[in-house]
Amino acid sequence: MNTSGGMVNAYVAGAAEVSPEIEAMIERRAKLLGPAYKLMYAKPIHLVRGQGVWLYDAAGRAYLDVYNNVASVGHCNPHVVEATNSQSQTLSTNTRYLHETILDYSERLLRHFPNELNHLMFTCTGSEANDLALRLAQSYTGGTGIIVTRTAYHGVTDTVAQISPSLGPHVNLGPHVRTIPSPIDLQHETVDLDKALEAAVANAIHDLQRHGIKPAALIVDSIFSSDGIMADPSGFLSGAVSAIRAVDGVFIADEVQPGFGRTGDAMWGFQRHGCVPDMVSLGKPMGNGYPVAGLVVKSGILAEFGRNARYFNTFGGNTVAAATASAVLDVIENEGLQENARVVGGYFIAKLRELARESALVADVRGAGLFIGARIEADQQSPALNTRAAARLVNGMRENGVLISATGPMGDVLKIRPPLIFSRENVDYFIERFEEVLRKVEVHRSPV
Ligand SMILES: Cc1ncc(COP(=O)(O)O)c(C=O)c1O
Repeated sequence: MNTSGGMVNAYVAGAAEVSPEIEAMIERRAKLLGPAYKLMYAKPIHLVRGQGVWLYDAAGRAYLDVYNNVASVGHCNPHVVEATNSQSQTLSTNTRYLHETILDYSERLLRHFPNELNHLMFTCTGSEANDLALRLAQSYTGGTGIIVTRTAYHGVTDTVAQISPSLGPHVNLGPHVRTIPSPIDLQHETVDLDKALEAAVANAIHDLQRHGIKPAALIVDSIFSSDGIMADPSGFLSGAVSAIRAVDGVFIADEVQPGFGRTGDAMWGFQRHGCVPDMVSLGKPMGNGYPVAGLVVKSGILAEFGRNARYFNTFGGNTVAAATASAVLDVIENEGLQENARVVGGYFIAKLRELARESALVADVRGAGLFIGARIEADQQSPALNTRAAARLVNGMRENGVLISATGPMGDVLKIRPPLIFSRENVDYFIERFEEVLRKVEVHRSPV
């Protein structure tokens, strides 16, 4: 796999020629930030500005952003920027004081959830939200066993890194963690994905119990982003959820990636599967770039924890975070961005499928709304060639002024995930550029 430290599409020193300015900056960065930070693309990009769906580098070159789900209402969205600025100028403080904005926001956001999910706790990152979810799951169930998909990613804290197998073989999964195949793995082996996932969760539960570990939770990213993106058939999660509940465990939906309307059909990815989680973690697009994240939880799950512990996150839910998140929700609601994701995403998927019928490289297009995966297959017998072809396409698009990345256990799935304000014209622009790059890569198909 073309990875560096477990990251698909990471910059590898010396693999491509970069300008002396970029090389100097990379060296300075490595010296200052150390070796754990990775850069994207064979030729890293020095960005200086963003607006709407466009990003601009230091030389003034524009890139169509078809990758960043954080700036979901558009880079530097004026309504959001204004809300952040104005609250920063008025009051920036924490949740130990009364403040109306956090209450108004919570009321509005919780209206987007099923009634049972009735508390919202604030954190700064998705990792913290998942970390908190695991603490609550343990406190509620008295168990510690956690079940995740085989290439899951749920974040960076010690606890959460242990349930993130996509971080690679050098990051230990805890003894209390079991992995199940992803729905992408299972779809090839079964006609009933729902039942197959249910059986996989049941096996994992059995194995935990055999080792004397009480199961606490099943946690999944409801779009299976790091597993390679899988949205359909909607409903395939229900058996897995029943299996964990059958042993009094809880179901946590990680909506850090698919949440806030991205999948088009619904505000949250889990809604496409017709199930109601016990907890839902939120992040990335919640503040359009401002670090605000959270956990939505059923009151029954939180009661015991609330009696025995207290929760204070210094910056989580601060007044500026609440004002910014409110402004993001304004834009999603007022500009109909969930519907835009459905319509433009549907158009995008249809265009890519059209292209896949003609292309020898694009094997499968899957996703929902503006969360799309395109699996690249250069050679059925050689996963390594597929990975290389995907990397060439990603880097070819970058050279052509369009930003995407790749995902999945083999890094052979193009990850196409633009801001929610993406238009049909943007899709047409993408397709035009993609066709050019595909032609170049297909010419070099053998060897890729
Ligand atoms: C599915 C998923 N969960 C959790 C996280 C962690 O979020 P953060 O980076 O804000 O800690 C990520 C981040 O990439 C993610 O993709």
